[in-house]
Amino acid sequence: MSLLPVGIIGTGKYVPDRVLTNKELEQMVETNDEWIVSRTGIRERRLSSPEQASSDLAYEASLKALQAAGITAEQLDLIIVATITPDMSFPSTACLLQDRLGAKKAAAFDLSAACSGFIYGLANASNFIAMGQYKYALVVGAECLSKITDYTDRNTCILFGDGAGAVVLGEVAEGRGFKSFELGADGSGGELLKVTGGGSRCPVSPQSIENKQHFIYMAGSEVFKFAVRIMGNAAEEALRKAGMGKSDIDLLVPHQANIRIIQSALNRLDLSEDKCMINLHKYGNVSAASIPIALAEAVEEGRVNEGDCLVLVGFGGGLTWGASVIVW
Ligand code: UT7
Repeated sequence: MSLLPVGIIGTGKYVPDRVLTNKELEQMVETNDEWIVSRTGIRERRLSSPEQASSDLAYEASLKALQAAGITAEQLDLIIVATITPDMSFPSTACLLQDRLGAKKAAAFDLSAACSGFIYGLANASNFIAMGQYKYALVVGAECLSKITDYTDRNTCILFGDGAGAVVLGEVAEGRGFKSFELGADGSGGELLKVTGGGSRCPVSPQSIENKQHFIYMAGSEVFKFAVRIMGNAAEEALRKAGMGKSDIDLLVPHQANIRIIQSALNRLDLSEDKCMINLHKYGNVSAASIPIALAEAVEEGRVNEGDCLVLVGFGGGLTWGASVIVW
């Protein structure tokens, strides 16, 4: 059975208006702008309003992606939302989005792979199209991490922000589109980055709230070591599967967690910073939304040209990782 070439035919992003600066964080926890910038590269991040949930952010980003792709929501066959901050346990954020968009014929589900979720979503959706089963799919990364962040914990509250990025997938010209995916997981590292409260192991209770189990817990330096190792490995493996090498990369679009993690990936891939999309100084770490926001912004800025070789690479809770090589 021959597979159809599949690629990204439209991108969009949305970030809430409210900016939380490092200076403001200085008033909230014992930290300072110099520490945050030198250790992470982050200068500010966006926060959703009390009324906004992940589906609201996803909706705005999706409208832009659909417009860029030149298709209507009714034409969508599939919607995947990668998120660790769904509006609610169920129905899925993807179903809420499907209704809001009026994407009546689209199947819809959420995907949980933390910061790697968007790449996992691309891999899933592209297979349906490559097989000829579906024509158009919407893949979204949407997060309201501020709603699960403890703003008294300086280890985590300086890092995270809110936002959404969306792409439409469809058939593209021969030779273009996704060339490979590299997905992986190491569940033995699950303890390093987690929210334990509110699930079936630890339902919400006065005790779980008192223990702050509804907030993100992260063993930062352990995750850092994992990230440094896995970013290079995953990108190299995706390139190998695509029959390409480091020198073929025109633009790296990495997960925006920490500038030092990105720099180590650049060293490993022998790339200079001008071949890398970096926007974490503006948005911080937006988990599953980081890569699609960075991609949409790269497109907006005219940094992606036809025929360019892009490498998307991310890592996150699970632990999980994912990379993809795309010829634009
Ligand atoms: O999306 C995927 C998930 N997350 C990540 O990718 C995050 C990966 N990890 C990181 O980015 C880094 O580990 C952090 C930015 C979270 C922390 O940087 P670090 O260089 O690993 O610092 P550290 O945790 O080793 O802490 C160094 C010191 C500690 O003080 P002592 O014990 O040396 O006295 C911390 O208590 O810095 C202290 N510290 C802070 N100081 C000022 C930790 N957080 C802060 C802070 N402001 N916000």
